[in-house]
Order: sequence, then C-alpha cells, then structure tokens
Amino acid sequence: MKAMAQRTWNPADPLELLELPTPEPKKGEVRVKVQAIGVNPVDWKMRSSGPLRLAARLVGPKPPVVVGVDFAGVVEAVGAEVTRAAPGDRVVGGTNFSRGQRGSYADTVLVREDQLCRVPDTVDIAVAAALPVGAVTAWMAVVDLGRIRDAQPADRRVLVLGASGGVGQLAVQISKMEGAFVAGVCSTKNAEIVAGLGADVVIDYNHGDALAQAKAHAPFHVVIDCVGSYSGAGCRALLASRGRHIMVAGDKPSAAAQVLVPPFKSKAILGRPTGARLEPLVAAVAAGELHVSIAQKLPLTSAEEAHSLSQTSRMTGKLILEP
Ligand SMILES: NC(=O)c1ccc[n+]([C@@H]2O[C@H](COP(=O)([O-])OP(=O)(O)OC[C@H]3O[C@@H](n4cnc5c(N)ncnc54)[C@H](OP(=O)(O)O)[C@@H]3O)[C@@H](O)[C@H]2O)c1
Repeated sequence: MKAMAQRTWNPADPLELLELPTPEPKKGEVRVKVQAIGVNPVDWKMRSSGPLRLAARLVGPKPPVVVGVDFAGVVEAVGAEVTRAAPGDRVVGGTNFSRGQRGSYADTVLVREDQLCRVPDTVDIAVAAALPVGAVTAWMAVVDLGRIRDAQPADRRVLVLGASGGVGQLAVQISKMEGAFVAGVCSTKNAEIVAGLGADVVIDYNHGDALAQAKAHAPFHVVIDCVGSYSGAGCRALLASRGRHIMVAGDKPSAAAQVLVPPFKSKAILGRPTGARLEPLVAAVAAGELHVSIAQKLPLTSAEEAHSLSQTSRMTGKLILEP
C-alpha cells in the first residue's frame, strides 16, 4: 500500500509517498480501499505540537507516521467475526491512533468495524469523506455536550463562532435541524455562506467585537467556539443559566485553564468519529438535510499543499485528498 507519511516524528520531516506493507485484517478488522480523504487542522497540528501529537507518539504505531483521520472508500477485505461490513461496501470512517492504527493519508486503511458507517449510493464518496471529524465534532458540540435537547424549544439558541469553517458550517446546520435559533459569526466575505446555511442572524466580526454584537441575541443555550481566540469569560457571559460554552478550538493553555474555573460552564471537546456517531449524519446528508461544501480536491501526493491551505484558517469548505 501507499501512504503519505513522515519517516520520523521530527516536525521538519516532509510528507513523502512511501510504500508500506498492506495489512491483513485480523478478528473484527476491516481493510478499506480509500477513495477520498478529508483534511482537518488536526492532521497538520499532529505533525508539529500539542497534546494529541504527544499521545500519538506514546500510544500510536511506530514511524513512519501516517497522519489523517477522515476517509471514505470501499471495503476490500474483512477479518474473522466481522458482521457489519462486507467486501464491496461503500463506507466512511475515521482512523484511531489510540487503537494502534495508522492515519488515513493512504490508499488503504485498516480499522475495526465499529469505526465504519455504510454510505448509500446516492452520497458522493468525497462528500462522505468530508464528514467524520468535522460533522461528529459539530454534532457532539450541539447535541451531546451542548445538550440542546435539554432546552425548551423556545430557549434553543446557539451562537457559532467561526460559522464559515468546516466544523462551524455543520454546527449551524445541526443546530437548525434541532430547531434552534442560530447566530453565526464570520467575516464580511463569508456572510452570504453562513446565511445560506440557515443562520437566523449573521454577525460580521469585521463590523466590531463579535461577542459584543452577540449580546443583542443572548442568552444562548450553547456557545460553540470553533476559532479558539474568543474570550472564554466573554462567551460564558452570553449563556443562559443552564447554558454551555463548548470549546471546539481552544488548544491555548488559557482556554484549557478556563475549564477548571467555576462555574464549569466551559467544556473542551474531542470529536472522535465512530460508525454509530456517523450514521445519523450520513443519513441527514442522504436526505438532503445536511450539506458539506468541498473547497478543493487534490491528489494525495499534494498533502503538503493541502496542509498549507488549511493552515491559513481561511477555508470555507473541506479539502479532499484523492489517492
Ligand atoms: N476539539 C476537536 O475535536 C476538534 C475537531 C475539529 C476541529 N477542531 C479545531 O477547530 C478549529 C476549526 O476547525 P475547522 O475544521 O472548522 O477549521 P477551518 O475550516 O480551517 O476554519 C476556517 C474558518 O475559520 C474562520 N475564522 C477564522 N478566524 C475567525 C474569527 N476570528 N472569527 C470567526 N471565524 C473565523 C474562517 O472564516 P473567515 O475567513 O471569515 O475568518 C474560516 O471560514 C481548528 O482549530 C481545529 O483544530 C477541533
């Protein structure tokens, strides 16, 4: 199999196309021929710094380091006792280094069957590959950690900071699917995109402090920060009494420290895709209720270019790599 990988954990190592042994699926495992890979900021963050990189070094497979999580493709082979996947199935999923798995920047991945979700023929494989980390994180932010369903329908108000990004676009749409009033924060150039996703109010951060502007629409049951540079105290000030501030981005120490400060209204999130979490999201895409925009498709060998684009933090759609 071929993979774009770093030969060592040295952050200066480039991603190179390497030939690796094709793995044979053991009990409960599934080998997938990858057709599309979704790019997420975590893919390049894991190469350079942060707690995820440290964890991956400690518990992940030995180098060469194959980064990436999101993938979609076709099942090629299954191990013993696999019941939910068969060769030829179209599937989407996310790799998991804590299970000793290599990442998804490859033409082949090996995962367990509970990491996979079937993709109907009506859903484009690149669109499926754009879902795992972004959509699962957005779902967890709105529904699981944000507990939107605990609020009375009239009190379901969500503020999404970074509404035009990969996670933010899905958080806006999932909040609308949950019947919430949604305010989305973005720049002037992306206001139309965010309005088109169904946001009831678009707050333009080029027109002044976004949290100050959001006060007019508070209190919110959920404030979701997909940017990481907004003040935690400022976000919490906009919350309803049982509301929550969800830190999707927030790898700054100050943001992590805020979790420890009473009244414990800020929650950091780790969006981990599983087959069960992907199922309702893939179904919503198939039903035309959830839309993912694809900014650009690049060959897998252009992974470095994809990382440079993602590092600008200016993307308004997903980057897809194709093996
Ligand atoms: N905790 C988790 O499990 C998890 C999961 C997924 C992602 N993340 C993190 O969440 C962050 C977002 O991920 P993503 O995939 O959505 O990234 P992305 O698609 O690259 O986000 C880019 C978007 O951010 C917007 N943006 C940048 N600065 C902004 C600001 N000050 N206010 C409002 N919007 C702003 C940009 O819009 P403008 O050009 O209009 O500014 C752009 O549309 C990343 O830090 C990522 O690492 C965490």
